[in-house]
Formats: sequence, structure tokens, C-alpha cells
Amino acid sequence: MNFKNKVVLITGAGSGIGKTTALSFAAEGAKLVVADVNEKSGLSTVAEINQIEASEAIFVKCDVSNADEVANMVETAVLTYERIDIAVNNAGIGGLPQKTEDVDHASFDKIMSINSTGVFYCMQAEIRQMLKQEAGSIINTASIAGLRGLPSSLPYVASKHAVVGMTKTAAMEYARQNIRVNALCPVFTVTPLFNPDALDEFSAGLSEKLKQGIPMKRFSTPQEMADATLWLASDKASFVTGLALPVDGGITA
Ligand SMILES: NC(=O)c1ccc[n+]([C@@H]2O[C@H](COP(=O)([O-])OP(=O)(O)OC[C@H]3O[C@@H](n4cnc5c(N)ncnc54)[C@H](O)[C@@H]3O)[C@@H](O)[C@H]2O)c1
Repeated sequence: MNFKNKVVLITGAGSGIGKTTALSFAAEGAKLVVADVNEKSGLSTVAEINQIEASEAIFVKCDVSNADEVANMVETAVLTYERIDIAVNNAGIGGLPQKTEDVDHASFDKIMSINSTGVFYCMQAEIRQMLKQEAGSIINTASIAGLRGLPSSLPYVASKHAVVGMTKTAAMEYARQNIRVNALCPVFTVTPLFNPDALDEFSAGLSEKLKQGIPMKRFSTPQEMADATLWLASDKASFVTGLALPVDGGITA
């Protein structure tokens, strides 16, 4: 897939799935807007991209749960590169495993504000720009937790179901304006957010139990998520919109 000179904005591009996705677009010739709340990791992604020939990147510090910072992110992208062809709303956080009766309200609100409200703020600002361009492709990073329940993860599951719902709604609203909106639904993918060793420290044997629940009997890699995202963003998926695509080793089959 060739993304030569396409402008790609990715939130949470300083780490994990977002970083691997940014590097994959860069390898195909895209211009990247790397957004993250963590300046150090975002700048390090930019430095890696600038090593890749025929690609370039800027960093924008942005907390996606802050509407003003999201507006500034989109404005900076357009001031620098004049348009946004592809937006990947990937920034997100997990939470400690807790049964519903124990979930504290502050952590519920925090997860919703980043994982759901953040995607709303980003999508809205991006769509306003894409309407001016009369084209665009948006990929929201949801999760298999946006498609099914996951015990001891109520806030995360609620936040990702909201992402799937917003994706489907916006896809229907803007299909006629040449703006496609899809969601990626990863299963457990080894990144700083999902660290099997840390899980086992929390509860011995937990990571193996999770792995055995996946028909392919392994966790995913960030590259597998990046590959699916590039396909969704590309012209190869030109008639695909409103899809919540599980990339999950068969767990939601
Ligand atoms: N890793 C998994 O197993 C898994 C599974 C399903 C879905 N996901 C989703 O994939 C996405 C990426 O996760 P990851 O595993 O790469 O995690 P990660 O922790 O490696 O990366 C997340 C990035 O988002 C940034 N971020 C966090 N809060 C932010 C905010 N408020 N504003 C801007 N940036 C912020 C972080 O600084 C970090 O760079 C998330 O939305 C996550 O929910 C991950």
C-alpha cells in the first residue's frame, strides 16, 4: 500500500500500537502528525520517522480529553500540511482489574474521558476538516472490549462500546461526503499497556489463562494491528465504512 504524501494524524503515537502504526505509514511515504500527551515518547517517534527516507513528521502535544488541545492538534496539522487525509484515534488507557461493585467513580470517569470523550473530540474536529476537503478516512482504535463483555473491566468495556457506536454513527452520517469511519478492535496485544509479566505479578498464571482463551493461542503484535489499520485507511478498503474490525485470533468468532 502506498501512502506517498498522504497526511496521517495519529493520537497516542508515542508508544505501542500507535507508534508501530505511525512507523508503518511512514515506511509507505506518508507525512505524519504524531500526537501524544507524553512529549518525550512522541518526540522519539518523530525522530525515528525522520530517519525514514521520503517521510517526515511533526509532534503535537495533546491530551485527547481536552477539547482545546484537540482543536490545536488539528489546527497545527492543517497549518503544517494543509490537510488531514487519514486520522487514527488510537490514544487510550486501560484500568486495574476490578469487579463492578468495586469500581471507583474517579477511575470510571477518567477512562471514559480519554477513551470515549477523547475519540469524540478528535473525530468531530477531524470531520470538520475532512468536510472542507470533501474526503477522509478515520480509524478509531476500539477493542474486542467494544464488541463483548470482559469481566472485571467495566469502565474499559463501556468506553470501547462507545467508540464502536460513535464509529458506526459517524460512518452513516458522512458516507455521502466521501469520509469513511471504521474501528479497529484488537485483542490483547503486547505493549506497555498490556504487559503479560505485570499481569502475572498481579495474579499468577493470569496471562496464560488469557492466552488460552484466544483460539490462535497467542497474543497479538502491534505490527498486526498496524497492518489492519493501513488496510482500513487505504483505497483497498474504499467501500468499507462503519466496520468494527476484530483483529483477534478468533476470540469473537
Ligand atoms: N494493547 C492491547 O492489548 C490493546 C487491546 C485492545 C485495544 N487496545 C487499544 O489500543 C490503543 C493503544 O494501546 P497500546 O496498547 O498501544 O497502549 P500504550 O500505552 O502503549 O500507548 C498508548 C499511548 O497513548 C498515549 N495517551 C494516553 N493517554 C492519552 C491522552 N489523554 N491523550 C493523548 N495521548 C494519550 C500514551 O502516552 C501512549 O503513548 C488504546 O486505545 C487501547 O485501548 C490495546
